[in-house]
Amino acid sequence: MDQESCKVVLLGESGVGKTSIINQFVDETFFLFFQSTSGATFSTKLVTCSGGKQIKFDIWDTAGQEKYRALTKMFYKDAAAAILVYDITREESFNELKNYWIGQIKDNSPNKIVLAIAANKSDLFENEAVDESKGRELAKEVNAIFKLTSAKNQSGIDDLFVTIGNKFCDPEWEAGKEGEEEKKRLQEIKRGTVKVVKK
Ligand code: GTP
Ligand code: MG
Repeated sequence: MDQESCKVVLLGESGVGKTSIINQFVDETFFLFFQSTSGATFSTKLVTCSGGKQIKFDIWDTAGQEKYRALTKMFYKDAAAAILVYDITREESFNELKNYWIGQIKDNSPNKIVLAIAANKSDLFENEAVDESKGRELAKEVNAIFKLTSAKNQSGIDDLFVTIGNKFCDPEWEAGKEGEEEKKRLQEIKRGTVKVVKK
């Protein structure tokens, strides 16, 4: 069976639902209580994508609290895909993607990382604080997949991962992956010799 591994990392402010999205995707469970992640945790799931190709997602759940940011960097510097999560009821969580995470990915991840933005807690649409069009606009700007998700009622979760898997396997996407310049840049990131300049 044709199978490929895809390392995916979930990023975003504390409380946006990163752990909940993974729990729903991997175990089909959801907990209302909030236990903030410390450090990072790992899980896997096999998914069949278009063309029957199997993808083994190696999923890294990161801690959204600021004190863990240096540690979190270890997980996106060599990720094949990143899911940036915000909570549609909390504008700060969206601003944090715009003002922090997008730049971090640009500076510290492979150029050909598959990016996705998950607008989570879509079941709480009555308390929406970030218009969906804003999320879509940001996704378009950074060439990211955009999905509305609810870890609570499961909507959009499988679709999010399958869409990432399909892009990851797309021959056109793969073709541009490993230019010589890019290989060099990645090695430098791994060695920690790339200086991150704040724009
Ligand atoms: P950190 O580990 O601190 O970075 O937070 P996190 O992003 O992993 O958040 P977590 O998944 O722990 O969810 C935080 C809270 O939001 C929990 O109480 C969840 O039950 C709740 N939650 C997560 N996703 C959803 C959702 O889609 N809808 C609703 N209504 N609540 C959600
Ligand atoms: Mg968590």
